[in-house]
Amino acid sequence: MSSNPSPPSNVSTIATLLRATPPPKIVALVGAGISTAANVPDFRSVQTGLYAKLAPLKLPYPEAIFDINFFKHTPEPFYAIARARKPRNLRPTLTHAFLALLAKKNLLHFIFTQNIDGLEEDAGVPASHILAAHGNWKSQRCYRCKKVYPDELMENAIETGEVPYCLDEGCRGVVKPDVVFFGQDLPKKFEEKEKTKLPEADIMLVLGTSLKVAPCSRLPRSVREGVPRVLVNLESAGDIGNRDGDVVALGQCDEVIRALNEELGWAEELDSLWQEAIAAKGRYKDKHGEQPSLDELIARCAEKIGPKPVTDGHRRMLEEHLDAKYAGILPGKV
Ligand code: APR
Repeated sequence: MSSNPSPPSNVSTIATLLRATPPPKIVALVGAGISTAANVPDFRSVQTGLYAKLAPLKLPYPEAIFDINFFKHTPEPFYAIARARKPRNLRPTLTHAFLALLAKKNLLHFIFTQNIDGLEEDAGVPASHILAAHGNWKSQRCYRCKKVYPDELMENAIETGEVPYCLDEGCRGVVKPDVVFFGQDLPKKFEEKEKTKLPEADIMLVLGTSLKVAPCSRLPRSVREGVPRVLVNLESAGDIGNRDGDVVALGQCDEVIRALNEELGWAEELDSLWQEAIAAKGRYKDKHGEQPSLDELIARCAEKIGPKPVTDGHRRMLEEHLDAKYAGILPGKV
């Protein structure tokens, strides 16, 4: 694969691609980097990423907080920080608004989002144009019997940090929002959209992702040769920049997007669409006082765990392990 001597200068090249006639079909893949400006830390940025911030919780490994096999016996850390991750008080960023502007101009063919914050739709992107590959917070159910759990009880659990359990006395499994955890399958629609939308792309626009998590990370490699792949990110990601025609614009998403819209003459239209989206989001009124910061929520959970390396979750994990190991051997073990 010929390596691009040096990716062409960025914003003006991207603007030229967007001005093509006939209008290009843009397929976008977005990640946590487009929501950091909405005060949602990304996952892997050193120091500021969520995984670095979780150190005080003594997780076996940072991703455990979103791993189904850890969550089912130790859901406390997830619910300790849920209040800062649930999208009700988050506002769309300029980059989310730009995606809505592309949709308004009939340039946005489809978005694969890895984010669960729903901010693309809040910004005005039609739901028909979005696949939330890692699910979202819109609904929740018992991880064990899959029974749907009431929204208002879930809101209360998220605000108080109290772990919600299945209402069925015979089950009592942990309730989980419909986000895709490590160890779970992506929505069936992912493959269908990958097969139908990707081959129709005239431009692949990749925003704010490290491209470290499959299967979303394979999408930029799957677009047809000759389709320009545009990366807007603080750092390089995947193999974008290696194909002729690739464009890499390193920097803060919102800054690159603002410069791009100035170049296109769309800046005013973008700003008014963004302001409308922010106003439309409104403000969720927490019933349990001011929403604490993520750092504060992590500190409170760390205090609860205390110095002991073995948490209640470890105890439950051991019990489940022993139950399974001795099932049918010891009397009463089912
Ligand atoms: N502007 C541009 N790029 C940014 C910005 C910003 N304001 N903020 C962060 N970034 C970049 C980071 O440099 C990084 O390359 O965004 C990328 C975010 O990468 P990750 O933290 O790995 O997030 P993401 O790629 O979305 O992770 C994918 O991993 O843990 C799972 O399910 C989780 O959906 C998530 C998946």
